Amino acid sequence: MEKPIRRRRAMHLSSYPVLGLLLPIACVATLYERAEQLPASTSYDFVIVGAGAGGTVLANRLSDNPATTVLLLEAGPSNLGVADAIIPFLSTRLGSTTYDWNYTTTPQPGFAGRSINYPRGRLLGGSTSTNTFAWTRASNEEWDRYATLTGDDGWSWDNMQQFMSMNEKFVASADGHNTTGQYNASLHSTTGMVSISLPGYPHPFDSRVIETTQELSEDWPFNLDMNSGSMLGIGWPQQSIDTSSRSSGATAYLSPQYLARKNLHVLVNAHVTRIIQTGTDSGKPAFRSVEYTTADVPTGGTSTAPRTVVSAKKEVILAAGAIGTPQILLLSGIGPQAELSALGIKTILNNPSVGANLTDHPLLSNKFYVNSNETFDSINANATLAAEDIAIWNATGQGPMVDSALAHLGWARVPSNPYGPDTTAGPTTPHYEILFANGFLSTTTPRPSSGHFMTIATSLTSPAARGSLTLNTSNPFDQPNINPNMFGTDYDLFIMESAVTAVLKIAAADAWKDYIIEPFEDLAAATTPAALKAYIQAQSATIFHPACSAAMSPKGASWGVTDPDGVVKNISGLRIIDASILPVIPSAHPQAVVFFLGERGAALVKQKYGIN
Ligand SMILES: Cc1cc2nc3c(=O)[nH]c(=O)nc-3n(C[C@H](O)[C@H](O)[C@H](O)COP(=O)(O)OP(=O)(O)OC[C@H]3O[C@@H](n4cnc5c(N)ncnc54)[C@H](O)[C@@H]3O)c2cc1C
Ligand SMILES: *[C@@H]1O[C@H](CO)[C@@H](O)[C@H](O)[C@H]1NC(C)=O
Ligand SMILES: *[C@@H]1O[C@H](CO)[C@@H](O)[C@H](O)[C@H]1NC(C)=O
Ligand SMILES: *[C@@H]1O[C@H](CO)[C@@H](O)[C@H](O)[C@H]1NC(C)=O
Ligand SMILES: *[C@@H]1O[C@H](CO)[C@@H](O)[C@H](O)[C@H]1NC(C)=O
Ligand SMILES: *[C@@H]1O[C@H](CO)[C@@H](O)[C@H](O)[C@H]1NC(C)=O
Ligand SMILES: *[C@@H]1O[C@H](CO)[C@@H](O)[C@H](O)[C@H]1NC(C)=O
Ligand SMILES: *[C@@H]1O[C@H](CO)[C@@H](O)[C@H](O)[C@H]1NC(C)=O
Ligand SMILES: *[C@@H]1O[C@H](CO)[C@@H](O)[C@H](O)[C@H]1NC(C)=O
Ligand SMILES: *[C@@H]1O[C@H](CO)[C@@H](O)[C@H](O)[C@H]1NC(C)=O
Repeated sequence: MEKPIRRRRAMHLSSYPVLGLLLPIACVATLYERAEQLPASTSYDFVIVGAGAGGTVLANRLSDNPATTVLLLEAGPSNLGVADAIIPFLSTRLGSTTYDWNYTTTPQPGFAGRSINYPRGRLLGGSTSTNTFAWTRASNEEWDRYATLTGDDGWSWDNMQQFMSMNEKFVASADGHNTTGQYNASLHSTTGMVSISLPGYPHPFDSRVIETTQELSEDWPFNLDMNSGSMLGIGWPQQSIDTSSRSSGATAYLSPQYLARKNLHVLVNAHVTRIIQTGTDSGKPAFRSVEYTTADVPTGGTSTAPRTVVSAKKEVILAAGAIGTPQILLLSGIGPQAELSALGIKTILNNPSVGANLTDHPLLSNKFYVNSNETFDSINANATLAAEDIAIWNATGQGPMVDSALAHLGWARVPSNPYGPDTTAGPTTPHYEILFANGFLSTTTPRPSSGHFMTIATSLTSPAARGSLTLNTSNPFDQPNINPNMFGTDYDLFIMESAVTAVLKIAAADAWKDYIIEPFEDLAAATTPAALKAYIQAQSATIFHPACSAAMSPKGASWGVTDPDGVVKNISGLRIIDASILPVIPSAHPQAVVFFLGERGAALVKQKYGIN
C-alpha cells in the first residue's frame, strides 16, 4: 500500500533567506512524490535510475530537447531545504541519517578485521548532496589511460575538455578575497553547471602550508592548480561550493528552471527493486522496464508493498552508483551465474564482471595537538558557538560554515616500491594524497572533549587491491556484501606507510614550529614499523570513493560490464553512467570525474538517437 506523501524536509526554507533562490516543492510542477501522481498517459523515452552525479546530468541533458521524455527515479527524498546538505560545514552530520543508505562493509582483513560504516547519499543529488566538496578532475594521464583501457579516444584528457567546460562554473569565494595565485583562471569555465570555488574562510595555518611548499619544495612543490592535468604538489582546494552553499547534481542540474520542463519527470522516494527483461533484440535480452516501490523501506527491511513497473521506449539508464548499480543488475539476473543461482535468482546474462573489481581509497586521520584556539574543534565542542556561526551564515553567507572541514590538499608519489608494478597512470599521477584539516577529523576515534587539533589525513589513491560486491540475499532492501578489500596488498600498505612518514616529516618542518605541538596518542605510539602498521590498520577507514564495480572494457572484450559508451554488453536497451563503470579508480576525488562521465555519456546518447 502506498503511504501518504512524506515530507522529509529538515527545516523550512523560509528560515534561510540565503536560500531564497530555491523554490518549495509545491511550486515545482514535475517533482513527484508518489507513483500515481505521474501523469498516466506518459510514456518515456528514457528512464534513469538514481539522481547522483551521473543521473542528474543525464536527466538534464536528455530533457534539453522538449521532444524527448525523461523519467528520473530516486530512492531518497528531495534535497530542498535540507540544511545539513546545504551549509558546507555541516556535511559531516549527514551520515547515519535519513539521507544515508547506512551501509557497512564486510570485515576487512587489511583493517585488522574491522567492518566500517560506508555512507552513500540517498536524496536528490545522491552523494553529491552529502559529500565533502573536494573538486579534482584527475590527471591528464588518468584520462588518457581510460582511453587506452576502453579503446575509445573519446575519454582522453584532450577530448574531455569540452565536457569539463560544460560542467564547471567557477565562482567567487564566500569572503570575496582575491584568488589570484590560488588557481589558474585560464583553465576554468565560468559558464557550466556545477559551481566551483576556493575556500571562503581563512585557517590559522594557511601561510604555514604555503611555507611548507617552499621549505620542502623538492617533495611538496606548490601546485597553482591541481586541476591542470598535473596533480603533484600542494595547492588550494577547489570545492563544489556556490560561494557559500553546496553545489550538487541536484542544485545544478535539477534546479527549478529544469524541473519546470514538461518532458522531465522526477519521482523521489522511488526505490528501484530490479529491471525487467522486455524481449529480445537481435538475440540479446532487452531490458527496458524498471520495477520500483514508493513504500518507505529502510535498509535491511522487507516490504511486499505493490511494485510499479515503468518502461522506456529507448533506454533504461542505471546511475545508482558503485553500490546501487551492480546490486540492481544482480537482482535482475545479470551477473555471475553461481552467485545468482545460490540465491534463487534466474540468470539472464551470466557475466562474472558484475560486482567484481570494486575499488576504494582508504583514508587515515593523522591528528596533532596544536598551539591555537582557532580550530573547528571549538565549534564542534560548543553547540552555542555552532548556532552562532550558523546564524552568521544565514544572515550574511559568511563565516566558518562556508567551507567543509578540508583545507589544503597535496598529492605525491613514492619514489619506488618493492612490492609490484606501479599502479598509477603515469609519472605525474599521485600514489597518495594528504589533506589538511583545521581540527580533529576522524571517523574511527571520537573527538576528545577538549583540546585543539590539526589533522593531516592521508589517503591511498592508487590501490592495487580489488574488492567485490555480491548479493547477500535476494531481498532488494538488504544491503549487498560490500568488500572494498582495503589494504588488500602489501603494496597498498607500503604506500600508506610512506604517506604517514611524509606527514611526520611535514609536521617536523620549521614551517610548523610553534604550531604543531605533538602527534595525538595513536600516531605518537607508531614508533616502530610494526606499530606503524598496527596504527594504520586500526585507524584507517574510507574516503567514500567506491568505484569500478561494473566496469567499461573495450567493445568485444570477453570481460567487463559495459562497452566504452556505457551500453551494457550483450544486453539491449540498457546503459550505465556512474562511478561503477570506471575501469580503474581515479587517483583523485571522483565526483568531478563522474560528472564529466555524465556529460560525455549524455552526448553519446543524444548522438545515438539523433537528439539535438
Ligand atoms: C560522505 C561522502 C564524502 C565524499 N566526499 C567527496 C569529495 O569531497 N569529493 C569528491 O570528488 N567525491 C566525494 N565523494 C564521492 C562522490 O560524491 C561520488 O563519487 C559520486 O557522487 C558518485 O556519483 P554516482 O552518480 O556514481 O553515485 P551517487 O552520487 O551516489 O548517486 C547514486 C544515486 O542513486 C540512488 N540510488 C541508489 N540505489 C537506488 C535504487 N535501488 N533505486 C533508486 N535510486 C537508487 C542513490 O540514492 C543516489 O541518489 C564523497 C562521497 C561521500 C558519501
Ligand atoms: C535566518 O534568518 C532569518 C531572518 O533573517 C530568521 O528569521 C531565521 O530564524 C534565521 N534562521 C536560522 C536557522 O538562524
Ligand atoms: C588580485 O591580485 C593580483 C595580484 O596581486 C592583482 O594583479 C589583481 O589586480 C588583483 N585583483 C583585484 C580584483 O584586486
Ligand atoms: C595557466 O594555464 C595556461 C593554459 O594551460 C598556461 O598557458 C599558463 O602558463 C598557466 N599559468 C600559470 C601561471 O601557470
Ligand atoms: C539510516 O539510519 C537513520 C538513523 O537510524 C534512519 O533514520 C534512516 O531511515 C536510515 N536509512 C535507511 C535508508 O534505512
Ligand atoms: C578485473 O579487472 C581486470 C583489469 O583491471 C580484468 O582483467 C579482470 O577481468 C576483471 N575481473 C572481472 C571478473 O571482470
Ligand atoms: C587559548 O585560550 C586559553 C584560554 O582562554 C588561553 O589561556 C590561551 O593562551 C589561548 N591559546 C592561544 C594559543 O591563543
Ligand atoms: C561557547 O560559545 C559561546 C558563544 O560564543 C561562548 O559564549 C561560550 O563561552 C562558549 N563556551 C565554552 C565552554 O567555551
Ligand atoms: C550475508 O551476510 C552475513 C553477515 O552479515 C554473512 O554471515 C552471510 O554469510 C552472508 N550471506 C551471503 C550469501 O553472502
Ligand atoms: C558477449 O557475447 C559474446 C558472444 O556470445 C561473448 O563472446 C562474450 O564473452 C560476451 N560478453 C559478456 C561480457 O558477456
